[in-house]
Amino acid sequence: MSTKENELRVGMVGYAFMGAAHSQAWRTVNRVYDLPARARMALICGRDSAKVAEAADRLGWQEHTTDWRELVNRPDIDVVDICTPGDSHAEIALAALAAGKHVLCEKPLANTVAEAREMAAAAATARAGGARSMCGFNYRRVPAVALMRQLVADGRLGEIRHVRATYLQDWIVDPQFPLVWRLRKEVSGSGALGDIGAHIIDLTQYVTGQLISGVSAVTETFVKERPLPAESSGLAAQADGAGAATGPVTVDDAAIFVARLDGGALATYEATRFATGRKNALRVEINGSLGSVAFDLERLNELEFLDATRPAAEQGFNRILVTEAEHPYLSAWWPPGHIIGYEHSFTHQMRDFIEAVATGVDPSPSFDEALQVQLVLDAVTRSAELGSSWAEVEPSLAPVAA
Ligand SMILES: NC(=O)c1ccc[n+]([C@@H]2O[C@H](COP(=O)([O-])OP(=O)(O)OC[C@H]3O[C@@H](n4cnc5c(N)ncnc54)[C@H](O)[C@@H]3O)[C@@H](O)[C@H]2O)c1
Repeated sequence: MSTKENELRVGMVGYAFMGAAHSQAWRTVNRVYDLPARARMALICGRDSAKVAEAADRLGWQEHTTDWRELVNRPDIDVVDICTPGDSHAEIALAALAAGKHVLCEKPLANTVAEAREMAAAAATARAGGARSMCGFNYRRVPAVALMRQLVADGRLGEIRHVRATYLQDWIVDPQFPLVWRLRKEVSGSGALGDIGAHIIDLTQYVTGQLISGVSAVTETFVKERPLPAESSGLAAQADGAGAATGPVTVDDAAIFVARLDGGALATYEATRFATGRKNALRVEINGSLGSVAFDLERLNELEFLDATRPAAEQGFNRILVTEAEHPYLSAWWPPGHIIGYEHSFTHQMRDFIEAVATGVDPSPSFDEALQVQLVLDAVTRSAELGSSWAEVEPSLAPVAA
């Protein structure tokens, strides 16, 4: 930790969508939660000096740089927060871990299994020296999702039989939408699969406590060629206009797969950017021998719960308003019924990360857990390439920490 007692000096790389979401969380977390350490927003990094200077000012960072290597090697930085596309996760995380920094890395952990394995191994080595690492699967930190996990862990659903997960978006339905980085495999690793499919893989494994053991998948790229963007950017990019040069889309637009979980459940997953009208629709339903739960991100303060142990005449899905102080993460927020939103999941993520780092325990999801998600992504890709043949998820073989 910092030379200044109980302070964690954060350096963040990337300042666009996730950079803004993480900044908001770093700004807020110590103002809401009473934690054993305070985060200081010390240094932000981006490639364009004018833009990163503006971002530092707008988002509340003390200093800025255009060189992530300077950031990871500065002795006055304790935490490296990686908010860049997947093609730079491994390089930045490996350098940061080698420099003894704690690392928070956005999902998916990497673009390939090989990179993810290397990162998990480096995290294990760094852990022995006291450096902690975590991957940013923030939807775990939605209180209703954490409550789902508690209900499953407490046995309220009995034996889990079905998991039904969908994550639907529609931002590239228009074939004129430009070829942004998310549509280029060399930058993003995969398409809807790794971008949003990874979230529902992690979320359902987290909630059920079961791991996906094998899959049968189909993937599709509906629009195979797109105009090159005026400026390579994220979700809101503009094409150069009519007659613009085009380039090939090298990732999946949609990925659908069935899976077996190692605790005996059967599961279905759908991740697509072509669900016209669905903007960011993450839904999960879990059916067990004693009950069911259903979660919809568009109503993230609610959880539907059916308790099948109640008399048949009284059964039905109950809507739990997840805003009580007894609910996960909520005691520090507002009075019951005063709802929270998307960005709070990031504040909760920083809360758990700071607490783990300051108390010397491993935060979750660890790089090992994120490697396992990467192995599921890999199994889905292999199955789809082999005409939907069954693909086992490889064991992670992650090294055990010293
Ligand atoms: N947890 C979530 O819900 C969630 C949501 C969206 C994105 N993500 C993940 O966050 C990461 C970033 O996605 P985004 O939507 O913020 O992308 P974005 O395009 O909005 O921002 C990427 C940022 O990284 C910077 N950047 C790119 N390469 C860089 C490099 N080599 N050095 C320094 N800066 C670099 C860009 O300038 C930009 O500031 C991805 O891994 C993505 O999968 C997670």
